Amino acid sequence: MEGQSPVQLEVERLIRVHGRNRTALMPILQELNRAHSYLSEEAMLCVSKELGVPRAEVYGVATFYSFLSVRPRGRFVIRMCRSISCAKQGKFHPVTAALMEELGISFGETTPDGLFTLEKTNCMGMCDQGPAILVNEDVHVKLTVASVLEIIDDYRRKAKAEGFGKKIA
Ligand code: FES
Repeated sequence: MEGQSPVQLEVERLIRVHGRNRTALMPILQELNRAHSYLSEEAMLCVSKELGVPRAEVYGVATFYSFLSVRPRGRFVIRMCRSISCAKQGKFHPVTAALMEELGISFGETTPDGLFTLEKTNCMGMCDQGPAILVNEDVHVKLTVASVLEIIDDYRRKAKAEGFGKKIA
């Protein structure tokens, strides 16, 4: 509709799918987060207004769940399991070090090209197959230094194919 921002149009489309009520809050936030890697202030305000849910409640949900973010993140969010079963695996530290070195960032940071964000997470239920990472919604298990570097390359290729950021080498 005329005069509406892209965010408003997107929220309206999601409301048509999930409904205009409180129970639609989580699925709408999840879809917005999936599409943009985070929830902008504008998106949260719009959801609050359209669903009639207080701003503080929308912000509370957005900041409570670790898979939602109110800060811009990379196209691919890499979550490394730091729980005990994975951490006990002998390869955990070399894999973590290789990831940080390859990306040139530490946990909680995003690469300057906006491609990857590195985060820690708790158990993902893959304890017998660690070390494990989640990249957006894809699980990768039984990681080695070589396999994790291959995985990073695959996502770089994927981003390039999508035309993400012309500055990707
Ligand atoms: S401890 Fe890592 S997936 Fe469970």
